[in-house]
Amino acid sequence: MKNNDLLKPASREEAELLEKLDPKRMPNHLAVIMDGNGRWAEKRHLPRVAGHRAGVKAAREVIETCARLNLPCLTLYAFSLENWRRPQAEVDFLMRLLREYLKRELPTINKNNIRLLVIGRSAQLPEAVGRDIADAMRQTARNTGMKLVVALNYGGRAELADAFNAMLDHVRANGLSAFRADEQTISDHLYTAGLPDPDLLIRTSGEMRVSNFLLWQIAYAEIYVTEALWPDFSRVRLLEALVDFQKRERRYGGLGALRAEHDARSRRG
Ligand code: FPP
Repeated sequence: MKNNDLLKPASREEAELLEKLDPKRMPNHLAVIMDGNGRWAEKRHLPRVAGHRAGVKAAREVIETCARLNLPCLTLYAFSLENWRRPQAEVDFLMRLLREYLKRELPTINKNNIRLLVIGRSAQLPEAVGRDIADAMRQTARNTGMKLVVALNYGGRAELADAFNAMLDHVRANGLSAFRADEQTISDHLYTAGLPDPDLLIRTSGEMRVSNFLLWQIAYAEIYVTEALWPDFSRVRLLEALVDFQKRERRYGGLGALRAEHDARSRRG
């Protein structure tokens, strides 16, 4: 299957990028730090929330493109544990925006056979948000296409702490005095248990930070930072990142030949 059969290019630039992409070497899991909504709005003398609205549009385009390109998994960093420190009105707006997105987009998500998953401390989210998320996850649970993972009230260190505590609970509950955890045990207790590790991490707006995102899981991820602000991260920008990813030789601290073995392993999840 060629890319052009999966995705109809809307411009010559898109067509040229699609031509360069090898459908057999797509990332198994793309993780994205969507940054720069506020700056996008500021540049236009608009309120920050207008940047978030534009950010949702960009997210929709990226989600649809990844699904059409048959990526197995896409994770979007939508709200961090630190984001509660923003002005209350902005936090409320972001929560409303998320609920609005879920309500409006659920039919399209289902049509595209996408399964929605949410990672983070969702029990601490406002009740209505938690309810809508649970509903959306239930309504997409049988979809077999791309997994869309939304990180909400998420922090990488908090995720590790939660995993360690889950393991301790297991040890105590079963009186396992000889219990030892290996890397797989830890992976199996993360919010992302069962998902492949991200092999590509994209961050927009030029910041060279991982901001407490999927700290364990990105151990071997390729990192792609673009100056584009998130609302400007169009389909063309995404295709550029994927083409760049395919140009890199992934070595996992060893030899290139290890790549096939590692890719096969993470494909199995
Ligand atoms: C960063 O911009 C973006 C966020 C805080 C996340 C919000 C994301 C969206 C609204 C996109 C929609 C996502 C989904 C899943 C529908 P910023 O405010 O940190 O920008 P700044 O650094 O320029 O201030």
